[in-house]
Amino acid sequence: MDKFLIQGGVPLEGEIAVSGAKNSALPVLAACLLTSEKVTLERIPPVRDIATMQKLLGHVGARVGRADGRVTIETAQIAHSEAPYELVKTMRASSLVLGPLVARCGRARVSLPGGCAIGARPINLHVAGLERLGAQVRQEHGYIEAEAPHGLHGAEVHFDRITVTGTEDLLMAAVLARGETVIYNAAREPEVVDVASLLSKMGAEIEGAGSSTIRVRGVERLHSATHTIIADRIEAGTFLMAAALTRGDLLVKGCVPEHLRALLAKLSQAGADVTEQGPDAVHVRGRGKLKSVDVTTEEHPGFATDLQAQFMALMTRAEGISIITETIFENRFMHALELARMGANIRLEGRQAIVAGPTQLSGAEVIASDLRASASLVLAGLAAQGETTIDRVYHIDRGYEKIETKLAGAGARIRRMK
Ligand code: EPZ
Repeated sequence: MDKFLIQGGVPLEGEIAVSGAKNSALPVLAACLLTSEKVTLERIPPVRDIATMQKLLGHVGARVGRADGRVTIETAQIAHSEAPYELVKTMRASSLVLGPLVARCGRARVSLPGGCAIGARPINLHVAGLERLGAQVRQEHGYIEAEAPHGLHGAEVHFDRITVTGTEDLLMAAVLARGETVIYNAAREPEVVDVASLLSKMGAEIEGAGSSTIRVRGVERLHSATHTIIADRIEAGTFLMAAALTRGDLLVKGCVPEHLRALLAKLSQAGADVTEQGPDAVHVRGRGKLKSVDVTTEEHPGFATDLQAQFMALMTRAEGISIITETIFENRFMHALELARMGANIRLEGRQAIVAGPTQLSGAEVIASDLRASASLVLAGLAAQGETTIDRVYHIDRGYEKIETKLAGAGARIRRMK
C-alpha cells in the first residue's frame, strides 16, 4: 500500500491547476447509458473512482475509450443491467446507474452499497423516487431489483431530505419517462447542474436545475453530445486551505469561484487574503495570524461537508476556539483523532468538533480513513514540524488527481512511497 512522506513547514507558492470534478464526472458517465449514441466527455479526472465507474459501464455493455484526457462512451446495447457487489462495495456512487438502467431498458439490479466510513448512507430515497415514477422495486440477496417493463412515467417527487446522488439518479430516470416529473427539495449542487447540462445537450427537457425544484418533460430518446466537466470545487478548496495553512502565496487556476463562495467567506474571516482573479482563478495569501471561525456543514450553497475535514486541519493553527458542526453525515470526524496524534487539541461532542488553537502540529505516522480525511492529514503534514507519514493513501487516490505532484509543483516536500 502506498504512503505519503511529507516534510512540513514549507509555504505553498506559485500556481496549481484544478482537475475536472470527480463528483460531476461520476453521474455524467452514468448518464451516458441513456443513449445508444456516442457521448464525448472532456476533463474527466483520471482518479480511481472514475476508473471504477468506467469498469462498471464496461460491464453493463458500454464501449469506453480514453485518449488525451477525452473519454468516449458508446452503449449500443445494454448487455447486463446489473451493478455487481464487487464494484459497488469499492464505490457507492455505482448506485448512480440505477436510474439510467431502469429508464433505458426497464430493469436494473444494483447491489446495495453497505456501510461506509462516514455514515450509514442508505439509498432509500433513490428507491422511493423511482417507485413514484412507476418502477417496482424489491430488495433481495443484497441487491435492489427495479423493474418497469412498460417504461417509467412522470410524477411529483418530494425528497424527504436533500440528496445529491439521489437527485441525479432520479433526474436521469425522469428524462426518458412518459410525461412530466417535478422533483421538489432537489439538491442544488453544481454537480447536479452539470449532469442536467449534459442531459440537455443530449436532448432532454429540463428546467430549474440548480434550484430546489426541477421540472423534466420526458422525451423518447436521447442522442450523442460532447460535454466538458466542471472544475472540482473540493480539490480547489483543498489547495486554497493548504496555502492559507502554510502561510503560502498560491494561485489556484481553472476553478469556479462562484462554486466556492461559502469557503472563500470563511477563509477571509479566518484572516487569509483571498482574491478572485477573473472568472476561473482564486489567489490566496496567508498573512498574519489565523483566527478561529465556526463552520456548520450544509447542502450547497452552504459550507460543503467535503471540505470539513480540511477546514478542521486549518483551524488547528488558528487562534481561539472553533466549533465545527457536521450536519450531513453522522460519522465524519475520523480525521480528528489522527489530527490529535499530530498535536491538535480537538474535543468531539456528538456532531460537533471543538478545536482549540493555535497548536504547533508535529509530524507523526497517521492513517487515512476516507477520501477527505486523507486530504486533511496531507494539509496537517504540510504545516507540521518534521516528518509525517500517511498510510493508506489509496483513499486519496479515489478523488484527487496526482495530489502529491501538484503540491510538489508549488514547493511542498511530499513524495509517494510505493
Ligand atoms: C454526495 O454523496 C457526494 N458523492 C459526497 O462526496 C458528498 O459528501 C455528499 O453528496 C454530500 O454533499 C458524490 O457525489 C458521488 P447525499 P451522496 O445523498 O449523494 C442521507 C466525497 O468525499 N441519505 O446527498 O451519497 C445520507 O445518509 C463524497 O467526494 C439518505 O438518508 O450524499 C446523508 O446523511 C463523500 N437516504 C444525507 O442524506 C438516501 O437515499 C446526504 O447524502 C440518500 C441519502
